[in-house]
Amino acid sequence: MLLNKHTIREYLQTPDPEPLFQAARDLRQEACGRTVTIRSILEFSNFCCRDCRYCGLRLSNDRLHRYRMEKEEIVEVACSIIERGIQTVVMQSGDDFAYTGQELADIISAVKHVHPNAAITLSVGERPFEDYRAFREAGADRYLLKHETINANLYAAHHPGKTLKERLACLMELKRLGFQIGTGFIVSLPGQTLEHLIDEILFFQELQPDMAGISPFIPQSDTPLRNEPMGSLDMTLRMIALARLVTRDTHLPATTALATAEPESGYKDGLKAGANVIMLGETPEHYRNDYKIYDDKFRTNLPSIKRIIEANGDVMCLDRGDSLKQKS
Ligand code: 5AD
Repeated sequence: MLLNKHTIREYLQTPDPEPLFQAARDLRQEACGRTVTIRSILEFSNFCCRDCRYCGLRLSNDRLHRYRMEKEEIVEVACSIIERGIQTVVMQSGDDFAYTGQELADIISAVKHVHPNAAITLSVGERPFEDYRAFREAGADRYLLKHETINANLYAAHHPGKTLKERLACLMELKRLGFQIGTGFIVSLPGQTLEHLIDEILFFQELQPDMAGISPFIPQSDTPLRNEPMGSLDMTLRMIALARLVTRDTHLPATTALATAEPESGYKDGLKAGANVIMLGETPEHYRNDYKIYDDKFRTNLPSIKRIIEANGDVMCLDRGDSLKQKS
């Protein structure tokens, strides 16, 4: 569905968002069916060379205990996750250049060698384009790189020394290399305006990403934004619903941040607003508490997720869940 600025603004401001959620739900069912697909996430290193002001992994945070899993351990854990059933593993880390492009490619090849039919999604930030090529050649299927905010000034304010332009250039190169691409943004990032949110929806409408994550801002106690208010849940849900309307069949997760902001009903509300994916943290127990992107990250397990999905009348799916976009 094509939406213009005026209509998007109305949806963001209307006192009763229920009709918007209903329309998004209906469209989700039509375009994606009743399945909610599960992805597992393995957070294999929390080292990061960037200094994003909202993120607990930022370089300047010297209160974080850092860990970096060995290559063999990453392969072993990724394989065991796949063997337990979930057929997409998202391998995520900070922007950690201690792993060379070749080393990450070797990890991907090793997992793909054992499990050629599983999908590997990488989320390892901005890297030289030759690394992206090596990852693709090693068999990586998808790449998540949130643009975080589509406003260049707000982007520059929150990402010291970085530009939106280079972020988007990475995304375009990933797409060109044949990855299914995922992007996304943070709702209620300090400094964000309603106009920025409208531009996010127009951006999705144009890009038609394979996947898109929409998360509320959650303050992290060891960052400069520690005292800023938690992102608006209502606005996050409206943005998920609008993303559904303009992208139709993009994979949209009910994000972990959404569940963190609203532990009781975050996932359920996300599904009711048109989301069709849930990510399950599968980082080994002794590392996961150090992956402090934001505070009090929500933790759950597959049986609880299954209950939420089925209570909503949907069906849980552990398959690869490839992009629903037509590839030209
Ligand atoms: N609140 C919400 N999302 C955050 N991220 C990082 N810090 C925060 C925060 N404080 C998200 C970013 C990043 C992803 C891995 O985590 O969108 O892309």
